[in-house]
Amino acid sequence: MLNSIGLQNPGVEYFMQNDLPWLRKFDTKIIVNACGSSVEEYVELAKVLNTLDIDGVELNLSCPNVKSGCMAFGTSYEGVKEVTSRVRKVLDKPLIVKLTPNVTDITEPAKGAEDAGADGVSLINTLLGMSIDIEKKKPVLANNMGGLSGPAIKPVAVRMVYQVSKAIKIPVLGLGGIVNGRDVIEFMLAGATAVSIGTGNFIEPEISIKAIGEVEDYMKRHNIEDINTIIGKVEMN
Ligand SMILES: Cc1cc2nc3c(=O)[nH]c(=O)nc-3n(C[C@H](O)[C@H](O)[C@H](O)COP(=O)(O)O)c2cc1C
Repeated sequence: MLNSIGLQNPGVEYFMQNDLPWLRKFDTKIIVNACGSSVEEYVELAKVLNTLDIDGVELNLSCPNVKSGCMAFGTSYEGVKEVTSRVRKVLDKPLIVKLTPNVTDITEPAKGAEDAGADGVSLINTLLGMSIDIEKKKPVLANNMGGLSGPAIKPVAVRMVYQVSKAIKIPVLGLGGIVNGRDVIEFMLAGATAVSIGTGNFIEPEISIKAIGEVEDYMKRHNIEDINTIIGKVEMN
C-alpha cells in the first residue's frame, strides 16, 4: 500500500472523551500512537497521555507524510534521544519509540531511544515511496510521495529488526508486511519480542486472530512450549 493520509485526527481531548471509554470495553491493552510537530508538542501530548487509563505510549518519530516533526526527529541518534528523553521526563507509562526505516543505519536512532530511557522500540514505519500516473505525467498521490507498507517491505523490516535487536538491549516490536503466522515467526526469529499488523488488516480484518492460530500450529509442529524461546534464534550462515 502506498498512502499519504498524514496524521489528521480529532485530537487527544476527543480521544479521551469518546474513543478511550469505548476501547476500554474490550479486554486488551491500549497503546496510544502519538505524534507532534515540535518537541514541545510531543511533551505536551505526553503530559496528557500520562493522566489517562492507557497501558503505554508509542512515540511516532517516523511518519513520512508530515512536513515538520516526526521523521525529522527520527532519523538521527541525537534527534531520537532528545525527543525521547524530554518525553520520558513527563511520562511514567511504558514508552515505545517507533523508528523510521528511511535511514542508512537503523541502529543509530534505536540506540538514541535506548539511551534516552525508552522501554522498547518498534519498527518499521513505512518506506518513502512514489508512484506516477503515466497518462497524466503526475504523481498518483496528491502529496507526491507517501509511505509504502505491506508484504513488499517485509524483507527490509526483518533485516532491520535483526540488526536492531543485536544492537540494543531493550525489547523490539517488529512490524512491516506481516500477513500470517509464518511472518510472525520470521520476525520473532529475527529478534522481535512482539509483533503488530497494519496493512494486513485492510486485506483481512481478522488477520491477527488467524495469525495467532498459525503460530500455535507452528509451535505444535516444532514442539515449542514457550514462544519466547524462539526470539532471536535465527542461525546465521
Ligand atoms: C493507512 C496507514 C496509516 C498509518 N498511520 C500510522 C500512524 O498514524 N502512526 C504510525 O506510527 N504509523 C502509521 N502507519 C504505519 C504502520 O503502523 C506500519 O508501521 C507500517 O505500515 C508497516 O507495517 P504494515 O506493513 O503491517 O502496515 C500507517 C500505515 C498505513 C498503511
